[in-house]
Amino acid sequence: MMLSSCPCFSQIGLVLKKLFEDGVVMREDLWITSKLWCTYHAPEDVPGALERTLQDLQIDYLDLYLIHWPVSMKKGSVGFKPENLAQPNIPSTWKAMEELYDSGKVRAIGVSNFSTKKLADLLEVARVPPAVNQVECHPSWQQQKLHEFCKSKGVHLSGYSPLGSPGTTWIKSDVLKNPVLVMVAEKLGKTPAQVALRWGLQMGHSVLPKSTHEARIKENFDVFDWSIPNDLFAKFSEIEQASSYFIARLLRGASFVNDTYGAYRSLEDLWDGEI
Ligand code: A2P
Repeated sequence: MMLSSCPCFSQIGLVLKKLFEDGVVMREDLWITSKLWCTYHAPEDVPGALERTLQDLQIDYLDLYLIHWPVSMKKGSVGFKPENLAQPNIPSTWKAMEELYDSGKVRAIGVSNFSTKKLADLLEVARVPPAVNQVECHPSWQQQKLHEFCKSKGVHLSGYSPLGSPGTTWIKSDVLKNPVLVMVAEKLGKTPAQVALRWGLQMGHSVLPKSTHEARIKENFDVFDWSIPNDLFAKFSEIEQASSYFIARLLRGASFVNDTYGAYRSLEDLWDGEI
């Protein structure tokens, strides 16, 4: 279960409480991840942000807590106005995350939306290395460089938008229509969504598909007792990624880029060229 900053947390907390009380599921059977939002990066604000999340969710620990973005925003600011952007100091935020880890209230700590360079910089100063980097990852945005780096450093890569977020209104995504994906799905008698998820698992990533439909949730779970054979798996390397005229990344973080405010003047800066 991946829970990001959201006003619906307290409703989710009520549901969790009921599920635990009714014995439907036990806390230790769930994996609950949440993220530290950009307005809470000051080290003194980090413990309070976690406490609020734990209270809202009515639980006493998280399995994983992530720095949501390598972007800081002014304390108390709301929305994505450029003047809300501030200068991040990731090493000091990370120290506060390490203290949460020491306290046992978070079982693991990590980051999200970190480029290879930003992750490498953090590894240089971290006492507790980040367990996870959660980033956009799917067959049309394979994150090869980051994948290799994470593997070499023992940082787990967790992929959001593993289906390419079809149906999202603010981006046009046709990841599930990619001819390689469709061809492999037809050969294996699976859906393109299942093949996209299985590709992620065989890469050694975890995958975080979202669906509001029970049948699709079941379909998306049905990816563990079969595999993509090597010859078909090799075809994924033929899928075009970003090029000079085509950005493959769906979630670009353009709101965090500004000529005057914040740390990043361009998408190149934010992603250190990985766009
Ligand atoms: P829905 O909620 O109507 O099922 P991602 O996880 O990559 O961000 O993608 C989420 C989107 O993918 C949602 O719009 C969801 O729609 C859709 N989706 C989830 N599972 C499937 C599936 N198996 N086939 C097609 N679309 C799917």
